[in-house]
Amino acid sequence: MTEQHQHVYPVREEFAANAWIDNEKYLAMYQQSVDDPQSFWAEQARRLDWVKPPNQIKNVSFASNNVDIRWFEDGELNACANCLDRHLETRGEQPAIIWEGDEPSDSKTLTYRELHEGTSRLANALKSLGVKKGDTVTLYMPMIPEAAMAMLACARIGAIHSVVFGGFSPDALAQRVVDAQSKLVITADESVRGGKQVPLKDNVDSALTREGTEVVDNVLVVKRTGGDIDWHDGRDIWYHEVVDKQSNDCPAEPMNAEDPLFVLYTSGSTGKPKGLKHTTGGYLLHAAMTHQYVFDYKDGEVYWCSADVGWVTGHSYIVYGPLANGATTLMFEGVPSYPTHGRLGEIIDKHQVSILYTSPTAVRALMAHGDHVMDSSSRKSLRLLGSVGEPINPEAWEWFYRVIGNEQCPIVDTWWQTETGGIMISPLPGAIDLKPGSATRPFFGVRPALVDNEGHILEGATDGNLVILDSWPGQARSIWNNHERFVQTYFSTYEGMYFTGDGCRRDEDGYYWITGRVDDVLNVSGHRMGTAEIESSLVAHDAVAEAAVVGYPHDIKGQGIYIYVTLTDGVEPSDDLKKELTQWVRKDIGPIASPDVIQWADGLPKTRSGKIMRRILRKIAANEVDGLGDTSTLADPSVVEDLIENRVNC
Ligand code: PRX
Repeated sequence: MTEQHQHVYPVREEFAANAWIDNEKYLAMYQQSVDDPQSFWAEQARRLDWVKPPNQIKNVSFASNNVDIRWFEDGELNACANCLDRHLETRGEQPAIIWEGDEPSDSKTLTYRELHEGTSRLANALKSLGVKKGDTVTLYMPMIPEAAMAMLACARIGAIHSVVFGGFSPDALAQRVVDAQSKLVITADESVRGGKQVPLKDNVDSALTREGTEVVDNVLVVKRTGGDIDWHDGRDIWYHEVVDKQSNDCPAEPMNAEDPLFVLYTSGSTGKPKGLKHTTGGYLLHAAMTHQYVFDYKDGEVYWCSADVGWVTGHSYIVYGPLANGATTLMFEGVPSYPTHGRLGEIIDKHQVSILYTSPTAVRALMAHGDHVMDSSSRKSLRLLGSVGEPINPEAWEWFYRVIGNEQCPIVDTWWQTETGGIMISPLPGAIDLKPGSATRPFFGVRPALVDNEGHILEGATDGNLVILDSWPGQARSIWNNHERFVQTYFSTYEGMYFTGDGCRRDEDGYYWITGRVDDVLNVSGHRMGTAEIESSLVAHDAVAEAAVVGYPHDIKGQGIYIYVTLTDGVEPSDDLKKELTQWVRKDIGPIASPDVIQWADGLPKTRSGKIMRRILRKIAANEVDGLGDTSTLADPSVVEDLIENRVNC
């Protein structure tokens, strides 16, 4: 970190005076949360409406021979009722969702009452289609209010939703449908992003030709564009046809706090994507509490999280957290660059947004166009900014602060993961001085630590592997159908600790600086991808004998995808083949996995036992060829020179 990045932005007095949490309160509450989690969380749990309030608060084992995580295990509640029903009396006519369509002329508002009615009707429709408590429902949807309604309707009847990002390919969708064994898929004819149609229903049709997807009985289709689609009689059902005729009275099913609320697939360093299982009580409490305190949310404010509901950020901070708090949450269908790069600011002005939660990639993409991209808006309504998904470099932080926030808004850089359910390390804006690039301090109940590779806890200012020493309510409980893998992935590297997979530095003020993944997971534009997934896609192509995928620093995306390919004997390298392989991966996984660079490699650097030394490949991709370290353990050190010589500039 260079000198200029050591700039500290102290909490402003006027902000702290009106904030939910100031420094003194943060310190006191944090201390209580780690000294006496039972009483701390018993008290906090009262922010939810329970059908049966819990007496048992925390019951957790992180021991690798018995990973068992339970919170509020004798309590009963319904997540949908907490997000909707309990607000009807006090804020039935308040906007719950402000929807901004892809075209600037297209927007609408749903009040809490309207959202409650639409959700209840859909919940009855799901029942009429035979969906029962404990069934899974896969959602493959555009960013439209029906996506939030579908999540909430599942929660209402005790069904478990599995949202698959609309940018994933038919194969990726099929894999997730089969793993979750969903009998119902909810989709739309097409989604619209940046003026272009994405054929969601066609993708579903194609996914459902794959092996194992016979489990799907019905596909419920929202008419978003009216575009041309194929229709499978008996299987496909128009959303409006079945939903409109339902009653808007659908009692919310009382759920045990530990009943699953949703499963959400994410990539790991090995194998197929894993479905993280989140349960009802602890997750909702964590989402609601962090939404209120991290974003310092006040009644009546318009809050905008620009993520997609297909990611955990959309689950916790578009839907569950804000709605549990009775907030007004903005949902944007499009992209920040359409129709112009001024769109983000224009949406803020149009809906008088107070809080904007977005990604470093979005900030860097705008920054690349210069300060004037924000000229078409004043953004005077903004009070707070947030960042999530990847490390934000100090330059982007400063630009976010200066240009988007007019030097008026604190930035909360929030570190967390699909597995954590909600925010774990972040400034509370009325309590913690900001340092650009640092996620700063842990949230209540979160006990981060840094360990060396042997698992020894490191003290003071240091670098290390980031672990969490004790459970928090929003933590994922398991991997769908594979508890063994859950234990293996998160609890076996360092005994008795949750391993995040991230590297981290702690400075002399106890601030945490996430440095990125220490495993074979890439973070491209804030999207998480396993190198193994991309590699196995490539080697399935006839021309590819072997492939190795690494990340390299990318100005806008944070990380780009750099691929080394060894071709099968007799296949000639060509630009056309590069294009073909790029299309292959896009089709197999989705456009988010598009390779940025492909380098032909006659051989890959391997140890004598055949393990690919990615460390070397990462260095070459990053053009740090002077610091390759020891290559003497390689089976054939000469491949390295060859790779350096043929490095592709990026
Ligand atoms: O490497 C960290 C990075 O994103 C990973 C989690 O990805 P995912 O499960 O897709 O969830 C993203 C949204 C919560 C982490 O292991 N990451 C997330 N937020 C930050 C971050 N890295 C640095 N700073 C952050 N604020």
